[in-house]
Amino acid sequence: MIQEKDLAEKLSEIQERYINFMLDSLKDWRQWADASQRMADGKPVSKDEVPEFFHTEYEWAKIVLDMEDQGGFNWQDPRIAKLFAAAAQTPFYKLWGETITEVSRVLAQQINAKTLIEIGAGRGNLTRDMLVKLSRNNMSVPLVATDANETILENIAELQDDFPEQSLRTCLWDVNRPPEDLLKNQIKNPAVLYERASITYATYGSLENMAQVADVIVLGDYFNYTGELFAYDTMFDKIGVKPLLYKDVEPLLLKHFPNQILFDQQVHESVGVPNISLIIAWKR
Ligand SMILES: C[S@@+](CC[C@H](N)C(=O)[O-])C[C@H]1O[C@@H](n2cnc3c(N)ncnc32)[C@H](O)[C@@H]1O
Repeated sequence: MIQEKDLAEKLSEIQERYINFMLDSLKDWRQWADASQRMADGKPVSKDEVPEFFHTEYEWAKIVLDMEDQGGFNWQDPRIAKLFAAAAQTPFYKLWGETITEVSRVLAQQINAKTLIEIGAGRGNLTRDMLVKLSRNNMSVPLVATDANETILENIAELQDDFPEQSLRTCLWDVNRPPEDLLKNQIKNPAVLYERASITYATYGSLENMAQVADVIVLGDYFNYTGELFAYDTMFDKIGVKPLLYKDVEPLLLKHFPNQILFDQQVHESVGVPNISLIIAWKR
């Protein structure tokens, strides 16, 4: 059973670091909202009009609009792979990942977790980070890394060689579907599940499926807390990235994981940015 006060104390340092970074980075977010509107209206916007934090989004927006003019979005365009690689190197993306894994590790320690589950593991950035953190803290909680894409999992499985003291397994899981026995058999409860930027590509209904295996979830995604949408939201709709509205997620969270910490709510309250980027929720 998680005592919220205990947890808040354990997470206070990492939370303060994250919030300070976000307050500083997002304070001028409305400039990006206005600039993205002008871009959508076909007006010229130069990069230096956009706050640095949003430069990757600006590049994305340019490509999306450019491809739209040329008849549709093409995932094979070499600019896309370059942008993904650049985005993964930004200070924010690194801090976001480090925060998600550290919060999940602390939770695993607090509830004496028997399994850690990662969903949408992708290039394994979080997987590696988690294995590093477990080793540094002399912890060994079996980690099951999952993704809907089998090829990705083959690369992730190779991480085991770098961490012989840890137990890493991989399993195919499209979180839009209920977990199959093959996955369930690898999980012992209590279990902590974490993710970054994967629910956006799945559906919020996937929370029902996560609830079948996890006792605690750590969700790193852009949850639109206010429902207020800007040009950058609708632009990215064109490549299948739909805004994840907190109001849609909340009923499912409350049904399965009624206890919640909106980790960076203070950023929303201070600078008005509509998004929350990290949610911790647990069953009891
Ligand atoms: C933007 S990447 C994020 C990768 C990784 N979590 C990270 O933060 O570096 C999104 C990942 O979600 C996976 N994904 C997309 N839809 C999914 C689904 N329905 N179920 C599970 N994984 C999914 C993709 O295969 C991809 O690896």
